[in-house]
Amino acid sequence: MISLKVPATSANMGPGFDCMGLALQLYNIIEVEEISTGLEINILDHTSSFLPKNKKNLVYQSMLKVFDKVKCYPKGLRINLTNNIPITRGLGSSSACVVGGLFAANALTGNQLTKEELILMAAQIEGHPDNSTPAILGGMVVAVLDKNDICYVRNKLPDELKFAVFIPNFPLATKKAREILPKFISHKDAVFNAGRAALMAASLITGDYKNLSVALQDKLHQPYRKKLIPGMKEIFQLCKECGTAGVYLSGAGPTLIAILNERYQEHSEKMAGYLKKHMPNWSLQVISPDNEGIQIQYK
Ligand code: HSE
Repeated sequence: MISLKVPATSANMGPGFDCMGLALQLYNIIEVEEISTGLEINILDHTSSFLPKNKKNLVYQSMLKVFDKVKCYPKGLRINLTNNIPITRGLGSSSACVVGGLFAANALTGNQLTKEELILMAAQIEGHPDNSTPAILGGMVVAVLDKNDICYVRNKLPDELKFAVFIPNFPLATKKAREILPKFISHKDAVFNAGRAALMAASLITGDYKNLSVALQDKLHQPYRKKLIPGMKEIFQLCKECGTAGVYLSGAGPTLIAILNERYQEHSEKMAGYLKKHMPNWSLQVISPDNEGIQIQYK
């Protein structure tokens, strides 16, 4: 039996649309083993009632990509899934399935593909590398696809950096959240984002967090997606009033993430109290960064 632990991820991090992401200490568990025949998929959590347990399953589909590439197939396959990452919430749940499936299949077939090949495959399947690369490597990653190559830099994040993760009880499909984006943006907005994305990457890499509230600002996707996320404006305001270091839309949303400073306990209690009273369809979890990335155990 091969067991894989794949972290949740938060993409974009404000201005880094499709190129920046980080891993969080919240994990899906995938177990795979070869059996004599057939495909058996067991989902061991509440997603069992709506996720496919047949060949359409995303973990299985991703495994198949590796089997086809290395031309090596198991006789039969058992897959056990525990999905702790909330689905269609902007926390990289599908990326975790893709990454987990690729690494599981590679491990089952004798590790014929390198980590670098799998990093590229995962990003190509997803169409952008900002969830899959941190899910594999952990930490914070800046990554771009360049023709048939992926270029990235990965940076560890300190454990003291805490993330207030605001998750609503409604989903938002990435497809819908991408369709609402404009085809063209102004040069002024492009300049706005380029500067902030650079400031964001520099801040996290150097550990100089004093500019985060400005570095997290964005004009490429958040203003458009806001329409699809009732409550976003209020939570941004709440984070500002509570004195967090900055707040952004996680991936395509609808989850929102505030970066907390050393007074994180006080700030998170205040924000949780507000949600309970005024916005009960949102929950708050304080999560630390993951610096390990995908972990594989042979049992
Ligand atoms: N960068 C992607 C987006 C992440 O914002 O659409 C979601 O998969």
